[in-house]
Amino acid sequence: MGSANGLRKIAALIGIFAVLKVQAVPLTGDNADAGELRDDILDINRGLNHLFEGDIAVDPNRNAIIDQTRRWKFPIPYILTDSLDLNAKGVILQAFEEYRLRSCVDFKPYEGESSYVSFTKLDGCWSFVGDDRVGQNVSIGARCDTKAIVQHELLHALGFYHEQSRSDRDDYVKIWWDEIEEGMQHNFNKYQDDFITDLSTPYDYESIMHYRPLSFNKNESIPTITTSIPYFNEIIGQRLDFSAVDITRINRMYDCGKSLLKYILKV
Ligand SMILES: *[C@@H]1O[C@H](CO)[C@@H](O)[C@H](O)[C@H]1NC(C)=O
Ligand SMILES: *[C@@H]1O[C@H](CO)[C@@H](O)[C@H](O)[C@H]1NC(C)=O
Repeated sequence: MGSANGLRKIAALIGIFAVLKVQAVPLTGDNADAGELRDDILDINRGLNHLFEGDIAVDPNRNAIIDQTRRWKFPIPYILTDSLDLNAKGVILQAFEEYRLRSCVDFKPYEGESSYVSFTKLDGCWSFVGDDRVGQNVSIGARCDTKAIVQHELLHALGFYHEQSRSDRDDYVKIWWDEIEEGMQHNFNKYQDDFITDLSTPYDYESIMHYRPLSFNKNESIPTITTSIPYFNEIIGQRLDFSAVDITRINRMYDCGKSLLKYILKV
C-alpha cells in the first residue's frame, strides 16, 4: 500500500500544472461560489481594525518563513469548533484535501498536542502567521466559508504573508498611496529580504495571497494597487485556487520533495 500510495502522490505532484489549468475555469457544483462572485476577505473584514494587512491577527515582528521555530510539524492537529456553520466545516475539509493532493501538508484531528489550529467562527476571516506553539485560532467568520478563503488563511497559518509584501513588489505593482483609506497605509508595507524570503520564486500575480485592486480603497471605484502589466489587473486577487507558484512555495518551505522521497524509500 505504501509504495502505491507514494506513486500516486508523485503522479499528483507531476500533475499539478494540468490540474491547475483545469481548475482555473470555475466549475458548477462545489466551486460555483468559491470565486470572484463572493466578497473577498478584505470586504468581509472591513472595520476590523485590529487586523494587520486585513487578515493577519498579530503584528509581524516575527517571521514564520525565516524563523524555523514557527514552522509546523505534520500532520497539523485541528479542531472544528461547534461555532462553525456546517458549510464552513465542509469547505475546511475540502481545503485540507487541496493541501494533501499538492503538498506534504497534512492535518489530523486534535488529540491534546501543544500546537494546533482551532477553526472558530469569530469576526471576519483571519489567521496568525506560522505556528504559535500554544494552539491558535483561524477565524472562519460569516461569509468566509469558501474553500479558497480557507486555503488563503491556512497559507498564513503555514507562514506566508501577502504577495505584495515582497521587497521587489514595486517592479510589479504600483501602490496608489493617496487612494488608501486613512490609517490603512500600513497594510501595504513591504518587507526586506532578511525578514521574508521569496523561496527563489518569481513575483506571482496569480497567487491566492495577492490583494485585489480595490483593497483598503477610499473611493469604491478607484484602485489602490495596480499591476505594471495592465492585463494582470484582472488576475490579482483571484480566489479560485492555489497558483502553481503558491504550490511550489509550500513544497519548498516544508521541503516536501524530501519527505516524499523519504516516505517512498522508507529511509
Ligand atoms: C479562540 O478565540 C476565542 C474567542 O476569542 C478564545 O476564547 C479561545 O481561547 C481562542 N482559542 C485559541 C486556541 O486561542
Ligand atoms: C470617486 O471617484 C469618482 C471618479 O473620480 C468621483 O466621481 C466620485 O465623486 C468619487 N467618490 C467619492 C465618494 O469620493
